[in-house]
Amino acid sequence: MADTDVDLVILGGGSGGYACALRASELGMSVVLVDKDKLGGTCLHYGCIPTKALLHAGEIADGARESEQFGVRATFEGIDAEAVKKYKDGVVTRLYKGLQGLVASRGIQFVHGEGRLVSPTAIQVGDTTYQGRHVVLATGSVPKTLPGLDVDGQRVIFSDHALDLDRVPASAVILGGGVIGVEFASIWKSFGADVTVVEALPHLLPLEDEASSKLLERAFRRRGIAATVGARFAGVERTDDGVRVSLESGDQIEAEILLVAVGRGPVSQGLGYDDVGVATDRGFVKVDAYCQTNVATISAVGDLVPSPQLAHVGFGEGILVAERLASLPVVPIDYFGVPRVTYSEPEVASVGLTEAQAVETYGADSVRTLTYDLAGNGKSQILRTTGAVKLVAEKDGPVLGVHIVGSRVGELLAEAQLIYNWEALPSEVAQLIHAHPTQSEAVGEAHLALAGKPLHMHS
Ligand code: NAI
Repeated sequence: MADTDVDLVILGGGSGGYACALRASELGMSVVLVDKDKLGGTCLHYGCIPTKALLHAGEIADGARESEQFGVRATFEGIDAEAVKKYKDGVVTRLYKGLQGLVASRGIQFVHGEGRLVSPTAIQVGDTTYQGRHVVLATGSVPKTLPGLDVDGQRVIFSDHALDLDRVPASAVILGGGVIGVEFASIWKSFGADVTVVEALPHLLPLEDEASSKLLERAFRRRGIAATVGARFAGVERTDDGVRVSLESGDQIEAEILLVAVGRGPVSQGLGYDDVGVATDRGFVKVDAYCQTNVATISAVGDLVPSPQLAHVGFGEGILVAERLASLPVVPIDYFGVPRVTYSEPEVASVGLTEAQAVETYGADSVRTLTYDLAGNGKSQILRTTGAVKLVAEKDGPVLGVHIVGSRVGELLAEAQLIYNWEALPSEVAQLIHAHPTQSEAVGEAHLALAGKPLHMHS
């Protein structure tokens, strides 16, 4: 049995793990990064990047279909599933090569193999034990299913199967109206499929401000995407040409495939975590505000810990751990201050507290809201998108939340996140002049209105 001694051994080469490795090596630490699959993890290979490529292909398809609205004569002839896949895989491959080069150039030792935690300071891969002054667990998450719901990868599928489909399904039922469900509903509708989303809670994207969920539901209705909310799944049968999904209400929906998107669960079983005494809660590794577990030499980051399951949260946590281990001053992450985007058409973007969360924290009398309709925004009219910017603020105090729905509005979060995280007052944001005509003006106009001096807004 060989031994390798380094400063840091990281198990899992996804967003959290590789960000930690990059920052740690920048800070002069020797790093071993272990992954049984490809460097880059779910985000790069089976999540964020490939889905956004498909969404972009969907946007092009919609653009071709709707071109006449803009006076352009184009004909939409259909989707070439193989060519879309080639485009998507090309994007992933280029980024993958870039990331491999980056990791190598920083002197990080990437070990391809299945690792296991064997002591508070060691990961074993095959016959080799990698000893570290410190260990970081970053083994991520996998899709969850429901009891008795068998995912065969053919007719009943998870998002990673959906990404590799060699065809556009004629019809699909999507179980779960969270982020994955809504993004795939958008993709498949743009590609020409009949889509029905089944969500147990009363709204799509139930974690978003209710106003955003309602705007999305309205936009989906206009696009012909069916959403059955407040509906619980009862079972699925295979039919000759697809599936028949039954709901507890007794309703049945037939489709070619069923996509199961009811959340993702942590990958923490069978990896030695329990044996070494790492505390978990429902499979999530428990950490403090500095991503430290109950074992002094072990940290954990990314989807494995109970913070929002977002790639950029993984990046942030990975960097935080590397800096803490290098004895740099670090501050805990304000998870409300992390931007959230669902990249459907239309996009749903938010940062900070929802109105309901603000009311719960500050009391109804201390919270005010303002909604600026994108109908008043020139660039949104040019793009022919509808939606709104909703602000949640403390009375006579800072902005507590920004919630936006509309095409391309995810990009507006860059400013919204500064507003929330720097605790800006509406009057301070109102002083900033926004470029005309941009969608960012809608953020400016909302703050002008909240500061009592609305410009392009009917009172
Ligand atoms: P999710 O937790 O966002 O949504 C799952 C949905 O399924 C929930 O709305 C839940 O109420 C519903 N559900 C659960 N059981 C159900 C049942 N029996 N019948 C009907 N509905 C049921 O999980 P999702 O969409 O699978 O995504 C997993 C993670 O990946 C999320 O944390 C998400 O944030 C992350 N992700 C983020 C993306 C982004 O930032 N754009 C894109 C894709 C995923």
